[in-house]
Amino acid sequence: MKRYIQFPKVEGDASRQAHADLPAGTYEREISKEGFFGPAAHLYHRHPPTGWVDFQGPLRPHAFDCTKLPATAYGPWSAVELLNNASVRVSFWRCDAYDPKLARAPEMRALARNADGDELLFVHAGAGHLFCDFGHLEFETGDYILIPRGTMWRVECTQPLAALLIEATNNSYRLPDKGLVGPHAIFDPAMLDTPRIDDAFKAQQGETEWSVAVKRRNAVSTVTYPFNPLDAVGWHGDLSVVRINVRHLRPLMSHRYHLPPSAHTTFLSERFVVCTFVPRPFESDPGAMKVPFFHNNDDYDEVLFYHAGDFFSRDNIKPGVITWHPCGFTHGPHPKALQRMYEAAKPATDEYAVMLDTRDALDAGPEMDGVEMRSYAESWMTPEPVLAPKPRRP
Ligand SMILES: [Fe+2]
Repeated sequence: MKRYIQFPKVEGDASRQAHADLPAGTYEREISKEGFFGPAAHLYHRHPPTGWVDFQGPLRPHAFDCTKLPATAYGPWSAVELLNNASVRVSFWRCDAYDPKLARAPEMRALARNADGDELLFVHAGAGHLFCDFGHLEFETGDYILIPRGTMWRVECTQPLAALLIEATNNSYRLPDKGLVGPHAIFDPAMLDTPRIDDAFKAQQGETEWSVAVKRRNAVSTVTYPFNPLDAVGWHGDLSVVRINVRHLRPLMSHRYHLPPSAHTTFLSERFVVCTFVPRPFESDPGAMKVPFFHNNDDYDEVLFYHAGDFFSRDNIKPGVITWHPCGFTHGPHPKALQRMYEAAKPATDEYAVMLDTRDALDAGPEMDGVEMRSYAESWMTPEPVLAPKPRRP
C-alpha cells in the first residue's frame, strides 16, 4: 500500500489554521498534492508570491477572449478548439446567424453524435430547443446540458448561441461524492431535468432524410437515413441527457473558512473536474481569507471560463474570457482584488464562472493565438505591493 509522507509541523511564525489568522503583513502560499486533497504546506511570505517584475519562458498563464472568436457553422463539430489533452477537449461553439425570414437562427442540418466521449455543454449565451434520442428539452443561458456518449442530438436556437463544450474524451461524467454534507447539497439530483417525449418532439419526427455527423477519434463520418432517427416513442433507464442551470446551484460556504475550489465541484470525470463559482457571501470572520490563497496548482492545469458578473479575484476580466494557468504557475488574487478584500468593499461575490481542473497538461488549439490577451502574465504586477492588515490573533 502506498502512502504519502504526512507529518503536520509548524515552523517559525505561522498560522496553525490554513487560510486564517495569517502572521501580520504576510501572504499565504500553498504547495500541495492532489489538488486540494493531499498533503499541503502553507508558507507565509513577506512579499506577494506574484510580485514579479519580469516573466520569461514557456511556463506562462494565458487568457483568451472567446468573444473575438469567429462565429461557426451550425454544428458542434465546427466549434473552435480551445484546449485539449488525451482526456478532455474544450471547444467554443458560437452561432450568431439569425434568419429574419424564419425569425430565428437556422437549424442544424445534421444530427450530432459524439462517439469519443460524454459531452458537457455550458450555455454562455442563447436559448433554444434541444432534440435528442431522449426527447425535447428547452435550454437557456446558464444551463449545463450533459449529453451521454452515443446520443444523437441537434439544437434549434431562438437566440444566438455561445456555448462551451467540454468533452470527457473516452470517458464519462459523474457527480462528485458530497461526503460530509450529503447527496442533496449544492444541488439535489432531483433538480436534474431530462428531455420529454412531448408534442414538440413528436412533431419533428417524419420520413424526411436526415444525416448524423458522428465524431470518432476527432474525425467526422456521416450516416444518412431516409427518415428522422430521433423517432423514439419512449425510453426507460438511468442514463439520459440531463440539464441544470447555474442559478439552481446552492454553494457551500463557511463564514469562518475560505473553502477551496473543490467544494464547488459540479461534475467530474477520471482525469478532470468541472467546478462552478456562483454568488455567495464573503467570509465574515475577521481572520479568515476572503479571496483565493496564492498557489501553484502543483498537480493540475487550471482553466476558468468567466460567464457573468463581477469577477472578484481578477482585475480587467470580462465575461467570455477563458484563462489557463498551467501546472506550476504561481497565482492568486490580482492586486486590486486583494485590496478590495482588505477594505471589505463588498458583502458577497457576484460572479458566475466555470472552472476546469485537469490532471494532465493541456495544449491550446491553433486558433487561440489570434485571441490571446498577451499581457496577462503582467496583470499581477503592481508598483506598490498590497500590504496585508494586522490580523486578529487569538
Ligand atoms: Fe488556481
